[in-house]
Amino acid sequence: MKLKTKNLLTLSELSQKEFSQLIDFSIKLKKELKAGGNKPLLKNKTLTMIFQKPSTRTRVSFEVGMFQLGGKAINLSSNDMQLSRGESIEDTARTLSRYTDCIMARVYDHGLLENLCEHSSVPVINGLSDSFHPCQILADVMTIKEKKKKLEGLKIAWVGDGNNVCNSMVYGCALSKMKMSIATPKGFEPKLDVVKDAKKFTDIEITIDPIKTVKDADVVVTDTFTSIHNRDPKRTKKFLPKYQVNSKLMKYAKKNAIFMHCLPAKRGSEVTSSVIDGPQSVIWDEAENRLHTQKALLAFLIRA
Ligand code: CP
Ligand code: NVA
Repeated sequence: MKLKTKNLLTLSELSQKEFSQLIDFSIKLKKELKAGGNKPLLKNKTLTMIFQKPSTRTRVSFEVGMFQLGGKAINLSSNDMQLSRGESIEDTARTLSRYTDCIMARVYDHGLLENLCEHSSVPVINGLSDSFHPCQILADVMTIKEKKKKLEGLKIAWVGDGNNVCNSMVYGCALSKMKMSIATPKGFEPKLDVVKDAKKFTDIEITIDPIKTVKDADVVVTDTFTSIHNRDPKRTKKFLPKYQVNSKLMKYAKKNAIFMHCLPAKRGSEVTSSVIDGPQSVIWDEAENRLHTQKALLAFLIRA
C-alpha cells in the first residue's frame, strides 16, 4: 500500500480509506511483532529525525520502529546542525534528501515543515508542530479501535486546551467519522478552519461546558495546559478548576468510557491521578501504539 501524499503534516492529506488502512496495518504489525517479529519492510532505508523541541515518545518510537523494520534512524537536535548557524531550511532539505529516505521533524513553526516539504525530494513527517501532531492521533485512533472494536459513530470528548493535538484529533474524527465535542475556555478553541473542514464529514461541537462535552462520551481526552510552545504557567489559571478531568467529570461519560492523554501529563492539573492512573485510562497502550502506527506510516510512505 502506498499513500497518495508524499508528506504527512496534518492528517488532512489522507483519504478516509487510506486512514483506515493505516490503522488496520498498524494493528497487523503489532500482532506480528508480538508473535515474534516484523518482516524487514524498510531494509536499507534511513530516517533522519530533526528535533527543535524535547521528546521522549516520538524520538524513541521512531528510532525503535525503523530498527524493527530493518532500517536505521539518525537523530539530530537542530542545535547540532548548521541550521543553528543560519543555514536555510531549503538547503538543509536539499542536502538531507541526498542521504536519507525520509525526514521526520519536530518544530515550533508549522510553516517551517511546509518549507521543508517544498524543498525535500523525500517524504516529510510532522513529529509535532505548534499547530498539529498527526502521529499522535494515528496512535490514538488505533487505540480507540482496539478498545471499542469500531470507530464510526463514537463520541470523543476533548476537554481543556484546543491545541496542536486537538487540531489533529479533529481531523482524526473526520477521517473515521467519530463525533467530537470540545470544551475549552473562550479563546482556547482549536483552529476554526480545521473545524470547518472536518464538519463536512462528521459532527464537531465546540462549547465552554465540560459536562456537556463529556456527557455520554465513549472516549475522554485531554492534554497539558502548558504545551512546549505555550509554557507560561499563568495559562493554567484559565483552565482550573473547571476544565480538569477528574472522577466527578468522568461520571458523565458512558460507564465503559476510556480516558486518553498523549503524555507528558501534569497530574493534579489537566487530569487527576484518580483518572489517569485509574481503571478507565488506556494511556500506556496509547503510548505503545505510537510505535506501531509510525511503523505502518513509514512503510506506507517509503517501502520500495
Ligand atoms: N506524546 C508525545 O509526542 O510525546 P513526546 O513529546 O515525548 O514525544
Ligand atoms: N501539546 C503538547 C503535546 C506534547 C506531546 C505540546 O505541544 O507540548
